[in-house]
Amino acid sequence: MTTMEHPTEATAAASGASATERFHADKSPFEAVKDTPPERVNTLAREVLAAVHSTIRKHNVSYDEYNALKAWLIQVGEDGEWPLFLDVWVEHVVEEVNTSHRTGNKGTIEGPYYAPDAPEQGATGTIPMRDNEDGDPLVWTGRITSTDGKPLAGKVELWHADNDGFYSQFAPDIPEWNLRGTFSTDADGKFEITTIRPAPYMIPTDGSCGKLISAAGWHPWRPAHLHVKVSAPGHELLTAQLYFPGDAHNDDDVADAVKPELILDPKPAEKGGYTIDYGFVLDPES
Ligand code: DHB
Ligand code: FE
Repeated sequence: MTTMEHPTEATAAASGASATERFHADKSPFEAVKDTPPERVNTLAREVLAAVHSTIRKHNVSYDEYNALKAWLIQVGEDGEWPLFLDVWVEHVVEEVNTSHRTGNKGTIEGPYYAPDAPEQGATGTIPMRDNEDGDPLVWTGRITSTDGKPLAGKVELWHADNDGFYSQFAPDIPEWNLRGTFSTDADGKFEITTIRPAPYMIPTDGSCGKLISAAGWHPWRPAHLHVKVSAPGHELLTAQLYFPGDAHNDDDVADAVKPELILDPKPAEKGGYTIDYGFVLDPES
């Protein structure tokens, strides 16, 4: 387990700094690409720059606009908002090209707020939450199977925002691991998770990403979502998010991460809250 400084303020700079710190703690991004041949780096870098050059020519970008861009790019780094910027506006296409071969479940972006090694809860369990956790209770049953229909002994890592749209470890005053848990499946591939329904999430608006959103006349909203990483031996890791029908931002997600296959069908439960039945089909590793 990696321990992080807990943010003390609910500001873009504080959650951005946590997201940047988390990214550095979990991954050694350069190691994985250390054998990339210069031809590929050359192609990618040249084509990205050519796309920038062509936009400048097409729209006659002025020196004032160029300097504003420069200042803004510097600010994104100072705010620690590169993880937010990239996961909102770029990651969905990376996810698309890397999973298009799959015949099992659709996935979607991871986003900046995953933390590995959330506490284990067994095959039937309640996600860690505060005694007075706000929000409608949600009881979720499901099963992990392979593309041939066979049940898999695997894991569902679940993390999501609270009823105010905040994530533990990235917002102040929320206990560590709140609304984060690792569930396993029984011999039949089944799991049953009790949690609460998360609220829609607004990406931080007081930092540089917010500045871009307001300058461009966009909105900062993501629909309410449950994040999962689903894994089983010999199968490709599935990173996905599940959404709720009727959310105003399912068709208009700032991060472009909603897919129709990822929308749940919650049913009102007798004792209040909702039940959901949603399982996962994993692709065997090739
Ligand atoms: C961001 C937050 C999320 O919860 C998410 O799923 C994707 C992106 C963000 O703030 O960048
Ligand atoms: Fe999220």
